[in-house]
Amino acid sequence: MPLAKPTALLEGMDRNTFTCGDDPLDAWLRHHALDHQHDRTTNTFVIIDRPLAGRGDSDTPGGERPSDPDLTGAGSVLDGPRAQRPGADDAGTEGAGHPLPGGEASGDAGGRIAGYYCLATAAVERVPGSRRRSRRPTEPVPAMFVGRLAVDLRYAGRGVGARLVRDAVMRSLTVHRMVGLPVLLAHTPHAAGAAFYHHLGFRPTRFDPYLHALALRAAAG
Ligand SMILES: CC(C)(COP(=O)(O)OP(=O)(O)OC[C@H]1O[C@@H](n2cnc3c(N)ncnc32)[C@H](O)[C@@H]1OP(=O)(O)O)[C@@H](O)C(=O)NCCC(=O)NCCS
Repeated sequence: MPLAKPTALLEGMDRNTFTCGDDPLDAWLRHHALDHQHDRTTNTFVIIDRPLAGRGDSDTPGGERPSDPDLTGAGSVLDGPRAQRPGADDAGTEGAGHPLPGGEASGDAGGRIAGYYCLATAAVERVPGSRRRSRRPTEPVPAMFVGRLAVDLRYAGRGVGARLVRDAVMRSLTVHRMVGLPVLLAHTPHAAGAAFYHHLGFRPTRFDPYLHALALRAAAG
């Protein structure tokens, strides 16, 4: 199945058929993602299942080959056949074909959205008594922030969620290398969402039960 690399959400993409089983997450993609993008408050990245010419019914995502390298292995967040050192152009962070939202992304907006996540910046208060002493002159701690992440039910269990997280990590590592941003945070109010992030290496935070953190220094390896 030709699942594309994660790329910026575009105006012409079909957001209305996306169904992840969580109505607020579906509704946010439909009604708010582009507005936030236009406001430059949150950028949304999607994985598209592109219809193949002559493939026939594009409503059958189950037709993919199990050996498709794009759909295998999650493990650690940077593991997997597509995993690579930060700086290389896999996650679409720097490649010309994977523009940033609001950029001059051209092209083919066709295909179904298999999954999405939104990325923003955030800042968190340092917890008093943290073991690590800050060398930064100012508080609070800056962070990258995955506010929402969801996979269409028709694509569940095929590595799409892990690939979205990996993309968020790769984009965050780009910023980490430039300015030293220490952490990627992910928000989820659901126990299943928390278990998913923990499976991929995130850890609970001490300041918010809905926030989970991945140290970018560790992710950079
Ligand atoms: C949670 C969600 C994003 C997972 O997406 P997915 O594409 O089905 O997950 P993947 O196939 O990429 O799974 C990657 C790995 O995570 C594991 N995993 C998936 N969901 C998990 C969960 N709820 N708890 C623990 N592990 C989970 C998989 O077993 C897989 O492990 P493996 O690589 O060791 O075999 C998806 O179920 C979803 O959209 N849920 C509703 C929305 C939601 O809860 N979002 C979370 C943040 S808001």
